[in-house]
Amino acid sequence: MKTLKEAYKDYFDIGATVNVGSYKSFGNLIAEQFDSITCENEMKYGFVCNTKDEYDFSRADELYNFALDNGLKIRGHNFVWHQCTPVDHLDTFSPEKLWERIKEHIKLVSDRYQKVSCWDVINEAADDKNGLFLRDTVWHRKFGDDYYMKIYALARELVPENIQLVYNDYNEYIPEKREKMLRIVNDLKAEGLIDAVGFQSHITIPKYFSLDEYKRTFEEFSKTGLRIHITELDIALPPINTKKTFSDVTAEEREAWAKLYGNVFAVFREYAELIDSVTFWGVSDDTSWLNNAFDGHGRDALLFDRDHQPNEAYFRVTEF
Ligand code: G3I
Repeated sequence: MKTLKEAYKDYFDIGATVNVGSYKSFGNLIAEQFDSITCENEMKYGFVCNTKDEYDFSRADELYNFALDNGLKIRGHNFVWHQCTPVDHLDTFSPEKLWERIKEHIKLVSDRYQKVSCWDVINEAADDKNGLFLRDTVWHRKFGDDYYMKIYALARELVPENIQLVYNDYNEYIPEKREKMLRIVNDLKAEGLIDAVGFQSHITIPKYFSLDEYKRTFEEFSKTGLRIHITELDIALPPINTKKTFSDVTAEEREAWAKLYGNVFAVFREYAELIDSVTFWGVSDDTSWLNNAFDGHGRDALLFDRDHQPNEAYFRVTEF
């Protein structure tokens, strides 16, 4: 049986999100299968910094050291996001004070983790609603409509130049969202403030996903000249708009799900020249965020089952 990183060694890095629980319980599997990790939460603003602006890096340090000790790359996720951020606290700041705060934050975190391969500088800036460009966030409210230009310029100044700056977002395969993401990255690219775009690739409702639109996304972004990172891949089984749990799915539904995983990786191989890394949002189904998100029904989504064994989708992905 080929490991994921063996199967894709001539294509791109294979990564997975890890947290302080998963690396302790199956660190060997992670080191054996993947080239790279992302901290699921541990480097986010709200995890390293409290509402008194005090820092605790212990959990992020643990995962950073796990990566370095095992020869794994590590992606930086993330500096600026509307979630996992003490928004009520930061909303009391003047724009000037918030600017000093985010400057200090980026400098502290970036200086501490100088061996990350990249930083997701802003996560999910584009709004999901039709007709609205940017999401309403504390950063947008305080710094204005060009806030993303300002924050990436700051990151360019503070982050060592060998570390890629990335814009990361989801639903990149839905045309209207894709247009907003393109607008953001083209603005940044014009000023030399970005190196790569992150396609989260959460496929939670397959009926909103099509391989043709996904391919169009690669085509459109290839014109920007930026590198592409697949940052948070998972395919929910059953989809999130059903009331079923993973134990209710039929053999046909499982087969269609595994086949979709295989087809998605065929797209990655087709566009491999553009792609630096493909990262799964988790390693095994017992630790996936989908167990706690949406309606709370259990789901499968990854290539390793609840006993940490490879499932049928694993073989669709590694045998081609
Ligand atoms: O660690 C605390 C724990 O101390 C506390 O007792 C518990 C009570 O609620 O909460 C724990 O924190 C939770 C954390 O996950 C760790 O389990 C947070 O409440 C919960 O909000 C957090 O959810 C994470 C979410 O981002 C928000 O940060 C998910 O694990 C994580 O998978 C998810 O990841 C995001 C990406 O960063 C961006 N793209 C979407 C993706 C999925 O939502």
